[in-house]
Amino acid sequence: MSRRSSSHFNLLARALHWSMAVLILAMLFIGVTMVTSLTLRPVLIDLHRPLGIAILLLALLRLGNRLRHPPPPLPGDLPAIQKFAAVASHWLLYALMLAMPLIGWAMVSAGGYPVVMLGGVHLPAIAPHSPELFALLRLAHGLLAYALFATVLMHLSAALYHAWVRRDGVFSSMARGPAREQP
Ligand code: HEM
Ligand code: HEM
Repeated sequence: MSRRSSSHFNLLARALHWSMAVLILAMLFIGVTMVTSLTLRPVLIDLHRPLGIAILLLALLRLGNRLRHPPPPLPGDLPAIQKFAAVASHWLLYALMLAMPLIGWAMVSAGGYPVVMLGGVHLPAIAPHSPELFALLRLAHGLLAYALFATVLMHLSAALYHAWVRRDGVFSSMARGPAREQP
């Protein structure tokens, strides 16, 4: 099995990857709990809005870093279909990391609700007040949340396949510090 020649995602990419993984998984569970529990809804929704906007800002920073610093190449002997699946699923994850918070923000705006962050800061509305648009965006936010969860589960399975079955250096490229030269 050929190992990755060079090396790792840069420190910023790795720090953002793991912190955002925690935040996004938390947001999926907060979202689902928020729409099923009347008691927890007020506190969770106050958390959901600012965390979602934080994810949007971090995703923009991450996209900038990703475009400036291309990732280490995938192992040469990885079948073409798996290379395609890796590239396509990573871009799908980026699209969903950006779309989910933007749709959430637009949905709250279309519903005519204030977009309140922590400390009482209000963000401007990014969509016109419209019940029809609110219903459409709410549906999209819920459906894309399922798509995000399913993609993350496939991504997790692929990561563990690389770590435990192929052992080809793909997992450690996102997990460890910079590669050391062996003496
Ligand atoms: C990565 C970011 C986000 C994720 C993963 C996420 C995830 C979710 C999930 C899983 C739900 C439950 C959907 C359902 O079962 O119907 C939900 C609901 C909701 N989200 Fe988000 N969300 C994100 C960002 C945002 C943002 C930035 C806002 C607003 C500023 C927002 C506002 C809402 C609201 C108001 C609901 C409840 C809708 C209702 O009452 O049915 N979300 N979100
Ligand atoms: C919400 C959860 C997650 C999201 C949104 C996510 C997203 C991404 C994205 C977009 C990439 C492409 C590299 C980049 O530009 O940053 C990536 C790479 C990677 N992720 Fe995740 N990830 C998540 C969770 C996980 C978990 C739980 C694991 C492992 C158990 C993992 C392991 C990896 C590995 C090994 C790579 C490198 C793959 C390669 O080089 O082709 N990820 N992830």
